[in-house]
Parts: sequence; structure tokens; C-alpha cells
Amino acid sequence: MPDIAATGIGAPDAPIYVYTRSNQARFLRELIAFVRIPSVSAQPQHAGDVRKCAVWLAEHLRRIGMQGVAVEPTPRHPIVYAEWRRAPGRPTVLIYGHYDVQPADPLAEWRTPPFEPVVRGENLYGRGASDDKGQLFAHVKALEAYLHANRALPVNVVCLFEGEEEIGSPNLASFLARNRRFFAADVAVLSDTRFLAPGQPAITYALRGSLALELELRGQRQDVHSGSFGGALHNPAQALCEIVAQLHDTNGRIAIPGFYDRIRRLSMEERASLTSSGPSDKQILRDAQAEHRWGEHGYTLYERTTIRPALTVNGITSGYQGPGGKAIIPARATAKISFRLVPDQEPSEIEQLFRTHIARNTPPTMRAMIRAHLRAKPAVINVRHPAIHAATVAYRQGFGVAALFLRSGGSIPVVNTFQEILGIPTVLMGFALPDDRMHAPNEKFHLPQFYQGITTCIWFLHEVGTDGRISAKRNGDASCRSVRYADDY
Ligand code: BES
Ligand code: MN
Ligand code: MN
Repeated sequence: MPDIAATGIGAPDAPIYVYTRSNQARFLRELIAFVRIPSVSAQPQHAGDVRKCAVWLAEHLRRIGMQGVAVEPTPRHPIVYAEWRRAPGRPTVLIYGHYDVQPADPLAEWRTPPFEPVVRGENLYGRGASDDKGQLFAHVKALEAYLHANRALPVNVVCLFEGEEEIGSPNLASFLARNRRFFAADVAVLSDTRFLAPGQPAITYALRGSLALELELRGQRQDVHSGSFGGALHNPAQALCEIVAQLHDTNGRIAIPGFYDRIRRLSMEERASLTSSGPSDKQILRDAQAEHRWGEHGYTLYERTTIRPALTVNGITSGYQGPGGKAIIPARATAKISFRLVPDQEPSEIEQLFRTHIARNTPPTMRAMIRAHLRAKPAVINVRHPAIHAATVAYRQGFGVAALFLRSGGSIPVVNTFQEILGIPTVLMGFALPDDRMHAPNEKFHLPQFYQGITTCIWFLHEVGTDGRISAKRNGDASCRSVRYADDY
């Protein structure tokens, strides 16, 4: 292995930066090709595209010099993995990302088609540009730069790129449990979170969990004429609205008995330090382009979206949706409902509470059915882990400023899975901006975030590789360890 210290990454004219600078235009062309593949994991008609995307990514990893590259099928969408283990005595870093994306609708609201990525100004527009293809690709390009300019990585690396994150990673935990030895690592890193604001990088140290459900109410056998029967039958759309309207009380709290029982309380000091480092109510409203706040009394908006749970109605469907009107009583009505959960709420226990609550509150005129779509546990990362320090150094090198520590309201199921199955913490070193419109029309990725993100990823690997406190775990070690506490690092 060449002497990494001698090859150097500190000087601005080091070969690695000459390489990244002179290849920027190609990196962008490749990212455009990546975003062009409509790898929508939730929609069955895109299953072939998700697979195509996996194959594209695997081929790319081979081309940059990663080894053992494979596309592993799962019951739904494939997992792409790769390795490079030629840094004996150095730590092993597990790099995770997701190459699947959210559905692109509503299509009419896109200025340009979601899967025909275009650069306007300093932004690349397209579904997945920010969440998560652009951010994942920053790591891939950092690996490429190291392998080409320095002929080696400063650490051992295992890559794990999945195609099911946006549907709750249903096949990831069992895959990792079966392949503990291969993925044994000292630390995981992933870039799939946001800055506090442009110019203000943030290391995310807490994520909420998620439980997504579908509640369907059925009334009479089929749709009927609302003139002949209106007034004589309970309308499922109406009954659903009645139930949904009562899921919150007038203080903005979730009205499901037992829902708050397991929540870990924060001390006043913790809350005060949260408030001083996090976004203000005004900032959050501005990020959402909203005028009015709403929610649980007694908490700031930052608290409501991070340390407090939430129940959100994501969609309601019933009856006629086309142009004009239609005089019917619909036979059924459906609500897609999701919870954001905080430590120590358990998705399966919350699901049980919800089922009990619905069973008690469904009127005798209706039949209720509940389907669970996904369950993800919340996660908290110990910010005193040396790899977190490595990320702060890396951000300073990439963006010229110190990173803040933030909690996020979003969910990334793999973070808890890495803790529970591999026994390792995850560094959430994101490059998205608050106005990237993740999951929304006109999603974009700020290209300077991409290029500076690559520098940051380069420095992260370097710092982990040279920090003696991050022990070089022998392969297989993690499989012997049973993990008891979420923040036992
Ligand atoms: N990248 C997001 C998570 C995220 C969003 C983190 C905003 C920080 C800020 C991720 O791709 C995502 O959307 N996750 C889903 C997970 C769910 C499907 C289990 C989410 O949060 O809804
Ligand atoms: Mn994501
Ligand atoms: Mn997402």
C-alpha cells in the first residue's frame, strides 16, 4: 500500500483534487445518467427500472476499481454491494446509500420531467437528485478519486446500496443478519440528510421512526345513487373523516390511549440546547413555504418535528375524483396514515394501539380494515464517537465551516438496523439543502453541494483512517457482539 500521508490530501494541489477538479464535468454527466433511471421502489411498474439502476450502479463501482461487486436479488428490489479491503490494520468503513426514489407525482407540477434531469443555474433537477442519488454518488466519486489519484483507499471499505429505502427497507435486516461477517465494520457512514441552511452543514444525530398504515372503511356493497339513498346510509367517506378528525385532540396531541406512554423525556437542559442549535419556528415555516404553524402545544416546531412523535394523514381516497361531479355514496374510503416515532416507541406496539383504537371507534355501520406498509425504529447516535469527530473535520475541509449537530424528523430504517445487527454507529453526513424538495415536485440537488460533498467524503475516509481511536475490527467481530443499548458507543 502506498504511503497515504506522503501522497497527501491536505494540499489544494494534491493529485486527488487535480483529479476531482478536472473530472467534475464527467461526474455531473454520470450523475445525470444515474438520475435518469426511474428507480421508483413503491410502484410495481418500475420494478424493471429499479433493477436496471442496480445494474448500472454495480457496473459503475466495478469501473472505478471496487472489488467483489454484486447485485443481490431480494424478494423485491436488489441490493448492490462492493468491497475494497487492502488497508490492513486500518478501520473498515461501511458506506450506505439508497438508489431507489419516491414516486414522481404530481407530474403536472414539474417544470421539466422528473426523469429527464437538467441543470438550471447551479442545480440539477430530477427525482432522486438529492434523495439520495446525488448524495450517494458523492461517496462513489470520493472512492474513485482515491483509487485513481492515490491508487489506494485510506481505510477498508464495504459499500451497501439498497433499492428499498423509500418503502421502509423490508428486506435489509434479514440480508444483513445473513451476511454479518461480510459487512462487519467499525463504523457506517451515509449521506441522506440535510444542512441546517445553505453554508451551514449539520451532522444528524437522531432520526424518528416510522409506521405507515392504510385504514379502509367499507359501507354498503357497492356505490349507490346518492339521490335514492342519500340520508339513509352512513357514507364511508364521511365516517372516515369522522374517525380521522378524532385522531388528534384540541391540543394537537394524538388521541390514541397509551400512545405517549413509552416516550423518553428530555431534561430542560437538553431542550434548551436543542432550541439554541436548531432552526427557529420562523425558519421551519419558511423552509416549508407555509404561513401557519400547527401541532402539539408546549413545544417548538423543531421539537414537534424531532423529539415529539407525529401522526400524519398522507392521503385520503374515496368516491369520484374525475372532472365534474358524480351523485353517489361511495362504497369505501381509504386513508394512508403514518406515524413518526421517537425513543422508546416501538412501531409494532404503536400499530397494536392503533388497531385497538380503531376497533373501538368504528361505528357499527362500517367495517374497518388496517394494512401496515412499513415499520422503522427511531435511532439516536452518540456524538462522542470518534467517527463523528472525523465528520466534523471533513465538513470543515469540504465546506470551510464547522458542522452543527441536529436531530431530524425523517426516518432512515438502516440506522437502527446497523446498531442492532452489526453493532456499529452510523455517521449521518448529509449534503442536501432544506429547499431541495425531497419527495416533492421539482426536486433538485445543489451542484456545489455535490462537489464539496466529494471533498468531504474524501476527508472523512482520511480522518477515520488516521484516527487511532477507531479500532480496526477484525472481520467477523461484530457477529460475536450482542448489542444491548441503542447508544452504547
Ligand atoms: N432521506 C430521507 C430521510 C430524511 C429526510 C432525513 C429528511 C432527513 C431529512 C429518506 O429517504 C426518507 O425519505 N425516508 C423515509 C423512510 C420511510 C419510508 C421508512 C421517510 O422519512 O419517510
Ligand atoms: Mn433518502
Ligand atoms: Mn426519501
